[in-house]
Amino acid sequence: MSAPAWAATEDSLSRRDFDRIARYIYAQAGIRLPPAKLTMVEGRLRRRVRATGRDSLGDYCTWLFEDDHLDGERQHLLNAVTTNKTDFFREPKHFDYLQNVALPQMQAEGVRRLRLWSAACSTGAEPYTLAMVLDAFARDRRGPDYGILATDLDTEVLAAARRGIYAAAMVEPVPPALRHRYVLRPRDRTREEVRIVPELRSAIGFAQLNLIDDTYPVGEPMDMIFCRNVLIYFDKVTQEQVVRRLAACLRPGGLLFLGHSESVAGFTLPLTAVANTVFKKI
Ligand SMILES: C[S@@+](CC[C@H](N)C(=O)[O-])C[C@H]1O[C@@H](n2cnc3c(N)ncnc32)[C@H](O)[C@@H]1O
Repeated sequence: MSAPAWAATEDSLSRRDFDRIARYIYAQAGIRLPPAKLTMVEGRLRRRVRATGRDSLGDYCTWLFEDDHLDGERQHLLNAVTTNKTDFFREPKHFDYLQNVALPQMQAEGVRRLRLWSAACSTGAEPYTLAMVLDAFARDRRGPDYGILATDLDTEVLAAARRGIYAAAMVEPVPPALRHRYVLRPRDRTREEVRIVPELRSAIGFAQLNLIDDTYPVGEPMDMIFCRNVLIYFDKVTQEQVVRRLAACLRPGGLLFLGHSESVAGFTLPLTAVANTVFKKI
């Protein structure tokens, strides 16, 4: 029997169910969910309660764990608990470094084609920012050709990233010259949506990749990896394992960019700092 409408606001997640979910998410994605996240998880799981036709969060958890529906719900649970905040030109110093230091250096070394990886790409702002900077450098300064791999664990953000459609306000941090070149406005000016140009969309390959997997099947060594604002969700042991695997995917001299609040302090890795949160593979 469905709970009456007035009861919906009182529906809450028990501590026992929260702990079961937190353990499962940690095992599947490395994401730590401390007790302070209970209200957040509660809010995010309400959509799954409705989608699966359950009566309440408690009923959903019984169905999930005791009636053995975990496998089928796995991806929905992962999509629900990930935090996907992102922006174009987020932490802009990284893109200044890319444009003014890293790209000219690699061009001077004679690199003909660059391979970049955005390793927790969310809805795509990070790989499209990279594509704008690389494409402008290739055209205006005869820079190297490039290809970008963009991966995430969350399948919903990957679908949004592939579409490349954003609220117009979201592209405001893009410098006007790049916005003019790489962002399309709809013919219907009343629509507040913009789309990234097809040339940039086709320069990026999107795929699902879980950073806690033992190996990263990304092909040839990368020239640069952006793995920003995801390590913060992992514990120290997982962070070190992830950065070690990322470093193994870089060519010697390749660069790793982490989020500004992330660090590799205390880890023994073949990396040396070259700028704030930018590391070079030794
Ligand atoms: C806060 S966003 C960061 C997006 C972008 N890198 C940036 O800095 O703007 C973190 C992303 O990490 C992804 N994520 C979380 N755990 C992951 C895992 N185990 N493997 C791959 N991606 C993961 C989330 O789905 C989310 O899209």
